[in-house]
Amino acid sequence: MKVILVNGSPHAKGCTYTALNEVAKVLQKNGIETEIMHLGTKPISGCLACGKCFETGKCIIDDCVNEFLDKVPGADGFVFGSPVHYAAPSGQLVSFLHRAFYGKSHLFKGKVGAAVVSCRRGGAATAFDQINKYFTISGMPVVSSQYWNQVHGSTPEEVMKDEEGMQTMRTLGNNMAWLLKCIEAGREKGIVFPKGEKPIRTDFIR
Ligand SMILES: Cc1cc2nc3c(=O)[nH]c(=O)nc-3n(C[C@H](O)[C@H](O)[C@H](O)COP(=O)(O)O)c2cc1C
Repeated sequence: MKVILVNGSPHAKGCTYTALNEVAKVLQKNGIETEIMHLGTKPISGCLACGKCFETGKCIIDDCVNEFLDKVPGADGFVFGSPVHYAAPSGQLVSFLHRAFYGKSHLFKGKVGAAVVSCRRGGAATAFDQINKYFTISGMPVVSSQYWNQVHGSTPEEVMKDEEGMQTMRTLGNNMAWLLKCIEAGREKGIVFPKGEKPIRTDFIR
């Protein structure tokens, strides 16, 4: 079993990484393979709404989004981590998630997801809520912890001093491992993710 943890901060080894790494260590202790993927510092375009992905299953912009999409079939769970930027996830992570999920949410169905946010002081709850939206529109079981998955600090050293935040990360790792093992045990007993009805798509004018 494998979990991909995406670091949506421009800092490769900053506060968000410190939180994600704590989750990863606990997953590894539970025998789960992990990969931390840093989005880097190059600009990440938002979704161009061209709809090509519905035909190709890929994004027309060939960057870290397609690199990530190649890895999705081999992963059982995802943790998307972000610094809080103006009470929201980083612009980089939002652009990345729009292009990773739009037209491709079927790839994530039945795979578990969790959001992790890091802030100096405020806005964690709104950023956390925003990331959780991608899971709950895609048929992904959301993994919870003992508190909303947030750490506080401006440096990794400060984050490490946030004892409750770091414990929340460890609990998240253990809870995710437990859920992944439950899903696998269920699969062995023939319990698979529901096939679902043919989607009905309506809007407000028809
Ligand atoms: C553009 C920008 C906006 C920010 N907005 C907030 C904010 O709304 N609330 C907050 O508490 N911290 C805010 N911060 C601070 C970061 O969220 C915080 O230092 C975070 O832990 C950094 O994580 P990182 O090292 O992984 O990038 C902001 C930082 C930047 C660069």
